[in-house]
Amino acid sequence: MNTPKKSIIVSLLLSFFLAMPVLAVDKAAGEQKSANCTGCHGTKGEGNTQFPSLAAQQATYIVIQLKAFKAASRTNPIMQPIAADLSDADMDNLAAYFSSLPAVKAGGDATLAKAAQTKAVMCMGCHGENGVGNGQFPRLAGQHPDYLVKQLTSFKEGSRKNSYMQAIAGSISEEDIKALAAYFGSL
Ligand code: HEC
Ligand code: HEC
Repeated sequence: MNTPKKSIIVSLLLSFFLAMPVLAVDKAAGEQKSANCTGCHGTKGEGNTQFPSLAAQQATYIVIQLKAFKAASRTNPIMQPIAADLSDADMDNLAAYFSSLPAVKAGGDATLAKAAQTKAVMCMGCHGENGVGNGQFPRLAGQHPDYLVKQLTSFKEGSRKNSYMQAIAGSISEEDIKALAAYFGSL
């Protein structure tokens, strides 16, 4: 008489496992882990002139970058060892947490920003309307201009690799880079 009981237990267990999401992203665990990040990236993920803002950044993009630092395909002496210590689940959780934070606006030189208004349109196709980003395409809106200049220069010089961005940064002048950084920083 214990066959029906067993089958009830089996079906209960089955429905429990089926109800569990396969790759549960745990934002609360991400928030806890973010204690290792906020010393540089800010308690609200807002960053500063040295450290990029992560607040409201695209989760997909954050994960791609953390994996790139871990694999050393994006190089940075500070971020490489930090990313090397993170598991795939840590990365997903941290990305869920930082992407959920309200956006911040670093601001930028108003005259420079105005000069870049027309040129910036060519960036929006990938970086989204108003630079809010889209999946693998990072949010640029509100990002610190100094950081944006540094990244655009790295793409231009080829020390940061990405076929789209190396071509685009390679085709714009240093003046344009400064102006575009001020423009996106003030969005
Ligand atoms: C000691 C300072 C420091 C700490 C701590 C730190 N970071 Fe960073 N992080 C940086 C710097 C500097 C950069 C910019 C690297 C560059 O110029 O390419 C950066 C870049 C990043 C980027 C790329 C952002 C972008 O827009 O491309 C991500 C994502 C990131 N950090 C996530 C994290 C996470 C998650 C943690 C915690 C587990 C963390 N960082 C801890 C200094 C730090
Ligand atoms: C064809 C699509 C495309 C266009 C157009 C484009 N980008 Fe990008 N951009 C990307 C991708 C993809 C990345 C992420 C690269 C990576 O994964 O390292 C990126 C990354 C960046 C970054 C690094 C952001 C960070 O947080 O580190 C900056 C800055 C940037 N783009 C600025 C611009 C500007 C300014 C323009 C317009 C002049 C522009 N992009 C046009 C695809 C594009």
